[in-house]
Amino acid sequence: MNAVNIGLLGLGTVGKGTATILERNAAEILRRAGVPVRVAGAVVRDVAAAQAWQADAGLSFPITSDGDALVADPDIDIICELVGGEEPALRWTQAALDAGKHVVTANKALIATHGDALFAKARSKGVGLRFEAGVAGGIPVIKALREGLSANRINWLAGIINGTGNFILSEMASHGREFADVLAEAQALGYAEADPTFDVEGIDAAHKLAILASIAFDTTVDFDALHIEGISSIQPEDVAYAAELGYRIKHLGVARRRDAGLELRVHPALIPEKRLLANVDGVMNAVVIHGDAVGPTLHYGPGAGAEPTGSAVVADIIDLVRGGAHPAGAGIDEPKALPVLTSAEFRCPFYLRLEASDRPGVMASVAGIFGDLEISLEAILQKEPSALDESSVPIILLTRDVDEACMRQATTRLEALDDVLSPVVTLRVETLD
Ligand code: HSE
Repeated sequence: MNAVNIGLLGLGTVGKGTATILERNAAEILRRAGVPVRVAGAVVRDVAAAQAWQADAGLSFPITSDGDALVADPDIDIICELVGGEEPALRWTQAALDAGKHVVTANKALIATHGDALFAKARSKGVGLRFEAGVAGGIPVIKALREGLSANRINWLAGIINGTGNFILSEMASHGREFADVLAEAQALGYAEADPTFDVEGIDAAHKLAILASIAFDTTVDFDALHIEGISSIQPEDVAYAAELGYRIKHLGVARRRDAGLELRVHPALIPEKRLLANVDGVMNAVVIHGDAVGPTLHYGPGAGAEPTGSAVVADIIDLVRGGAHPAGAGIDEPKALPVLTSAEFRCPFYLRLEASDRPGVMASVAGIFGDLEISLEAILQKEPSALDESSVPIILLTRDVDEACMRQATTRLEALDDVLSPVVTLRVETLD
């Protein structure tokens, strides 16, 4: 029985997790794949450091720094692209597909920005390009969308899809820790991207959302059309006020089908605390997918880390060896492009916070603006003045569903009031209805 030979491009967090699983679970993988699956070579920048790790881990496979040679090696059947970033990942992936090799990647940036061309190449070569590990770490959410939910018209999906960001928000909310300190821990644990601003500013989540949306809605997604906000602007007082109102602040990716087009947005959002998604903490990810037939389904699990992500890589390898469904990775040859809405066209409830003079009539002027614009309010709270400035008070408002363009008119008019002393903080609310 001939073994299937795997070439690992990269032996960082995910590469190590993948190599470890392939070795430790070799017997189970043989039973499921029908043939032995083994690492036949790995490419790293620092060969000596990788060999030291390999000796500690009790593994033995050739390690080189020559990626082009490994990709061209006729003995390698499946290339796992686990280096991340644009280059040389793109060049190696193209070369592997051109050479007729299946590719498994954890590189969501590559799929989100070059997926259409890469899938076309994979289809033309009759090989697979798989990317389960690129979205939500160890959660088999791509497989769920493409296989388990394939009978459905997907209405919307919403998820916590960046483990680093969720780890930071959870630690700040539950232990009052500093942002920079938690980010450093996430980096040490191997959760963060090489450039952690991708995690903090929502770019990594946006890559994942683009991939999920393209499968959910059978569409091509122009990454530049996504609305992206990160977590760096979240203030501790908003976390506290949200909790008083019965909400938690999470960083969400939301893709929703509207009559006029798709809402594709990544941003912090208040979620009712009773929702399961509001209680997903630490590095865990979760994605709610709402299909017309099944209703809402929740997919939960670790969103980053060596073996959780390696688990998804190895599952894709086994699927390819078994000749699983959708070998090329994309379901259709020419997906249609659906219109993507701009943020002014989004519609959802909003949370607002502003600082106002502590004078009679201020509340009425604030509420009057919402009345004029026909925005329904769910709640309006005036808090105690702060000890530092007794002449002003925070006012917190929660709206019902409102068009974002209308919300912007409201904030402009609020900020023009003499008694409103601060910029208005606005956060979207996602009720997951
Ligand atoms: N940096 C990513 C995250 C890794 O924290 O979710 C997994 O994609």
